[in-house]
Amino acid sequence: MNTNQGDKIYIFDTTLRDGEQVPGSQLNTLEKIEIARALEELGVDVIEGGFPMSSPGDFKSVVEISRAVKKPVISALTRAITRDIDIALEALQFAERGRIHTGIGVSPHHMKYKFNLSPDEIVERAVTAVAYARNRIDDVEFFAEDAGRSENAFLARIVEAVIDAGATVINIPDTTGYCTPQEYGDKIRYLKDHVRNVDKAILSAHCHNDLGMATANALAGILNGIRQVECTINGIGERAGNTSLEEIVMILKCRRDIPAYTDIDTTRITRTSRLVSNLMRMPVQPNKAIVGRNAFAHSSGIHQDGMLKNRENYEIIDPADIGISDSSIVLTARSGRAALDYHLRRLGYSLSAEQLDVAYSQFLVLADEQKSVSDDDLRMLAGVDTTADARRIRVDYLQVVCGKSAIPMATVRLIVDGEPCMATAAGNGPIDASLNAVRQLLRQKVTLEEFLIQAITRGTDDVGKVHIQVENNGHVYYGFSANTDIITASVEAYIDAVSKVVS
Ligand code: KIV
Ligand code: ZN
Repeated sequence: MNTNQGDKIYIFDTTLRDGEQVPGSQLNTLEKIEIARALEELGVDVIEGGFPMSSPGDFKSVVEISRAVKKPVISALTRAITRDIDIALEALQFAERGRIHTGIGVSPHHMKYKFNLSPDEIVERAVTAVAYARNRIDDVEFFAEDAGRSENAFLARIVEAVIDAGATVINIPDTTGYCTPQEYGDKIRYLKDHVRNVDKAILSAHCHNDLGMATANALAGILNGIRQVECTINGIGERAGNTSLEEIVMILKCRRDIPAYTDIDTTRITRTSRLVSNLMRMPVQPNKAIVGRNAFAHSSGIHQDGMLKNRENYEIIDPADIGISDSSIVLTARSGRAALDYHLRRLGYSLSAEQLDVAYSQFLVLADEQKSVSDDDLRMLAGVDTTADARRIRVDYLQVVCGKSAIPMATVRLIVDGEPCMATAAGNGPIDASLNAVRQLLRQKVTLEEFLIQAITRGTDDVGKVHIQVENNGHVYYGFSANTDIITASVEAYIDAVSKVVS
């Protein structure tokens, strides 16, 4: 619970509707339920479950999400057509609290080229749909599609009419991501000042990110009277995406001078972001605000030194607030002595000032040659032999059996401290089987927090890069490997992460 004074901002999550429109990221019903449960635990107020008229799959998802999740309101999208509304109502039959989200285009462009209707006809359609829905369900949200490019006077007219017809929430979408924050904020202020009955409904922001302004626009909306924000985890969504949930929520948490708060449990942000990224097969860009891999990674010497003196020198968010245990001080050619010393101490080496000087000059040469400096490299700098063969753990042999109707099995031989050891295990796929075999051999208690496979090009001969994060005793350890064989890369990345724990 956020302690900011001021207005509660309702979080309407549309990851499973607008977010799921992303090509290649479709989810099956079970995956949608898993995400819906995670959203419920995160504390969102509304979950948009889908557009039931659009496909049997969307219909089923709204039904199953309504059964599985009871705290948030479940919203179903419709066009301003009674048949759509009937189908959506049927899909919502098991919802504890259901909402119909209906609407129509209101910009001159949409009215003319999408609907070929006059403004009067558009108002009539909107009012008919809202009244029809409101006679059947208590909670009706109206979306004024392409409101971002609409004329404010017409927008105010249709908003006033649908509130009179019973709409409880009014969504003002910047459908094409065209508005600047100033314009979007002014639009909301205009509605607050010119719509007679505006206080009878909650105004909602639904901003797209085509020009990178979705979060800024939602914030401008809040500063002018918006009380619900429609957003998605990781900012995914149609084209360039939507306002990102984690960004708007953390802005309100961090900026105590903004008199507004949400009821989101921010400590669940990171795990929800990873769940969505994994299930939707959409890697999060490394520099993504709040949830990118580098969002709490410090690499330049000046910043690292400042961070080690006082975290708040360079961080405005405590990583614990979003559910990650630590910031990371990444060693690169731009790192300073303080960062090197910090990492050597982490590995248990305490060097004198002179020793550190020598190690630092060797480190700079190494960091110039390699992209990143591993713990083994650091041990070498500290005077410990860690040539490839002396690595604590390496993969010596790996064989997998998999294929249609086969039970995936893997045999792995590792060399641990010079000693060979071998195990065979089954799993629900070749990677799972291989990691199970490694787990049998290493017996290191870690929780797999993130597992990401990326291809560099799109060919079948491509190198697969595997990033893994494991958690042990509240610390997160990162592992990486790249190989044309993604199973080998996965095992090596896992060992890379786990061996950091072992040390
Ligand atoms: O962007 C948009 O206008 C929408 C509406 C359907 C709410 O997603
Ligand atoms: Zn949208």
